[in-house]
Amino acid sequence: MRLTLKIWRQANASAKGSMHTYEIDGISPEESFLEMLDELNEQLTAKGEDPVAFDSDCREGICGMCGLMISGQAHGPEVTTTCQLHMRSFNDGDTITVEPWRADAFPVVKDLVVDRSAFDRIIQSGGFISANTGSAPEAHSTPVPKPKADRAFDAATCIGCGACVAACPNASGMLFMGAKITHLGELPQGQAERGSRVRAMVATHDGEGFGGCTNIGECAAACPKEIPLDVISQLNNDLRNSGKYLR
Ligand code: FES
Repeated sequence: MRLTLKIWRQANASAKGSMHTYEIDGISPEESFLEMLDELNEQLTAKGEDPVAFDSDCREGICGMCGLMISGQAHGPEVTTTCQLHMRSFNDGDTITVEPWRADAFPVVKDLVVDRSAFDRIIQSGGFISANTGSAPEAHSTPVPKPKADRAFDAATCIGCGACVAACPNASGMLFMGAKITHLGELPQGQAERGSRVRAMVATHDGEGFGGCTNIGECAAACPKEIPLDVISQLNNDLRNSGKYLR
């Protein structure tokens, strides 16, 4: 495959960035998108040019490190992570634009790398769950209804990649935060801090500069783990009822 890549280059957080155009040839449809960028970087390095900075780690769709805005879509044209996107999703001769996540709360560090530590601070502000120390309790001592266990598990599959924020016109982090609130709020172990957790996380989310949800739904459409939009309803319900949960 022969491709034209228009890639955002920015030397550092305070530099002014711009789109740069690169031509690349000989790309296999079986390559992943990141392998294609690796090839580009090998060519740039061979020419003595600065390689394009981008994040990745597991390259298996499980860690949440990768994330690019590809031709205007978070993670590109498939519902998957950038590392699991393959070049067969594109056509020979395509022009592909590659940008970092765009959100005030995710400042650009360099090129396609953004600082997503705001997500860590939201998680941190949610705190811990109360659990007794000692050996693991007998599994049947805390029964959890199957629908609640399934919903908690589904919400817990969020990998914190930030695609929801990048896709949202408000740059809202509420799908991410709703997933965290839901996976703990559905389980008995998450009840003790349920009210304080949601209040603290929402305050941190808003303080970090994320926007509010206006029910557009781009976040859920872009989410590689298909976190459903209704976790935001649970977040809002928990916030409204947080006084009841506080002890
Ligand atoms: S690099 Fe881990 S999810 Fe993509």
